[in-house]
Amino acid sequence: MLKVTHAKSEPMLAAMREASDIAVGVLEMIGSYVRPGVTTATLDRLCHDHIVDHGGVPACVGYLGYRHATCISVNEVVCHGVPDDRTLTDGDVLNIDVVVQRKGMHGDTSAMYVAGTASNEAARLMRVTQESLYLGILEVRAGKTLGDVGAAIQAHARTHGYSVVRDFCGHGIGAAMHEPPQVVHFGQRGTGVHLMPGMTFTIEPMLNAGGCDVEALDDGWTVVTRDRSLSAQWEHTVLVTTEGCEVLTLRPSEGMDWKALKTSR
Ligand code: MF3
Ligand code: CO
Ligand code: CO
Repeated sequence: MLKVTHAKSEPMLAAMREASDIAVGVLEMIGSYVRPGVTTATLDRLCHDHIVDHGGVPACVGYLGYRHATCISVNEVVCHGVPDDRTLTDGDVLNIDVVVQRKGMHGDTSAMYVAGTASNEAARLMRVTQESLYLGILEVRAGKTLGDVGAAIQAHARTHGYSVVRDFCGHGIGAAMHEPPQVVHFGQRGTGVHLMPGMTFTIEPMLNAGGCDVEALDDGWTVVTRDRSLSAQWEHTVLVTTEGCEVLTLRPSEGMDWKALKTSR
């Protein structure tokens, strides 16, 4: 049986809640700025300033040489899109991913946005990807395994004809942005790391409209679908509790209706 403890202390969790609250504020704030004509560099600057103004540290800046507060991944970009002077156009769908450090601890979350109006196809991919995140979260409680989380995500993607990216995964998080264990978004029930109270990790499924293969661009960061099909991603930082799980990066606007997903599907 695989066991990983990494249980966070209460003071560590308190700092993670503060970091996560700032990251939530970023994702809430940025929505009204996403529209045709804005550049991803402008969006990144707004996010950066929000973090600093609220007492956080933009943890991605300087991480492995990365130079921005966010990753902004547009359309066929799977993850790690680098903010630049590209102007968004009507129908672009994009993931904004932000990591905040506060009092030495991290919160990591991302959401999808639309510039103008999304195609039906893009809207469906975004919705199914978000549902897959929620179905993964609903597996999180002491006694379950990371295999249960991955299996729930993979099953939902497959039902809707989408592939799950296998080359990037969620991760433990705490004093470091990326800690063990790896949280893959596929797998078999009852396998892998056993969940225990006090563990904190991200779940961040990437689903593609086409195949699961990805490739990195020459900038060394941007990851795109190999077939250039659309990709979507949503991410939360979660804490395993004795009752189940606390979503540290839950946004007020998300509501709790998704808890019904489990019984409706
Ligand atoms: N936020 C990403 C994640 O979900 C990590 C970005 S690392 C960076 O793990 F250097 F690109 F910012
Ligand atoms: Co992230
Ligand atoms: Co992450």
